[in-house]
Amino acid sequence: MQISGKMVLVTGGTDGIGRQLALQLQAKGADVWITGRDAERLTRARGEGMQVITADLTGPEGIEAVLRGMGGRSLDILINNAGMGTEHDFRVGQPDMVGDERTLWLNVHAPIRLIVALMANLQTRPEAMIVNVTSGLAIAPSAGSPVYCASKAAMRSYTQSLRAQLKDTHIHVLEALPPLVDTAMTSGRGGRKLPPQECARQIIAAMESGADEANVGMVRILKALNQVAPWLVRRIMIGF
Ligand SMILES: NC(=O)c1ccc[n+]([C@@H]2O[C@H](COP(=O)([O-])OP(=O)(O)OC[C@H]3O[C@@H](n4cnc5c(N)ncnc54)[C@H](OP(=O)(O)O)[C@@H]3O)[C@@H](O)[C@H]2O)c1
Repeated sequence: MQISGKMVLVTGGTDGIGRQLALQLQAKGADVWITGRDAERLTRARGEGMQVITADLTGPEGIEAVLRGMGGRSLDILINNAGMGTEHDFRVGQPDMVGDERTLWLNVHAPIRLIVALMANLQTRPEAMIVNVTSGLAIAPSAGSPVYCASKAAMRSYTQSLRAQLKDTHIHVLEALPPLVDTAMTSGRGGRKLPPQECARQIIAAMESGADEANVGMVRILKALNQVAPWLVRRIMIGF
């Protein structure tokens, strides 16, 4: 897909991978709209020439705010990027159910509701795309954040079915699977982290090439290994 001239909506475009996607898509000539909650970061993005929508996507009001903010404009590319994760580990303590419910809303309900709400809009465009940002953890979960991993596996599954439904249309469906990326979400966590700029670059390259998946960085290896030795991947990722 040619990015230039397309109208793109990036959820969670104020920080991390979403911000880098927004900046790089804008540099390629897209008309970029972002959503987020942080007023300062939204103001910065507006100063950089983006259109911004304030929306907390952990509930239906957030979806309504996005639709209101777009004001019926035509949309070519929807990028469901906003996401969060909470620890849910009985070895450490009682899980935070409020955090879990917010995680499931933001990571699963919000992208699905946006796809439903914006499908008719995307269908009017000559060339359109839906990008769902999942995770390498959608392929193989870690032990400590099962709700986050389950949310990403759910979106991986949803994305594959959606792609099959839309295969004879002009709406392309791309799943982006980042590895561990150096953002606020992973601050304080060890390990080799990919810079968010490089993660965004690889996702956009997949958008341009028409690929079904952007297996970013180490996820490419994880996925290949999972095909030949899933037991080994489970041992590496989850520890048994
Ligand atoms: N970082 C990684 O290692 C990694 C790996 C695999 C997949 N991913 C996925 O990549 C995506 C982006 O992650 P990231 O690491 O870039 O995260 P991040 O740096 O924490 O940024 C998250 C973005 O989502 C927005 N956001 C957070 N909570 C929100 C809410 N309740 N309502 C609306 N927007 C909200 C934030 O904006 P405001 O604070 O302004 O609301 C921010 O723009 C997520 O889907 C994540 O699961 C990340």
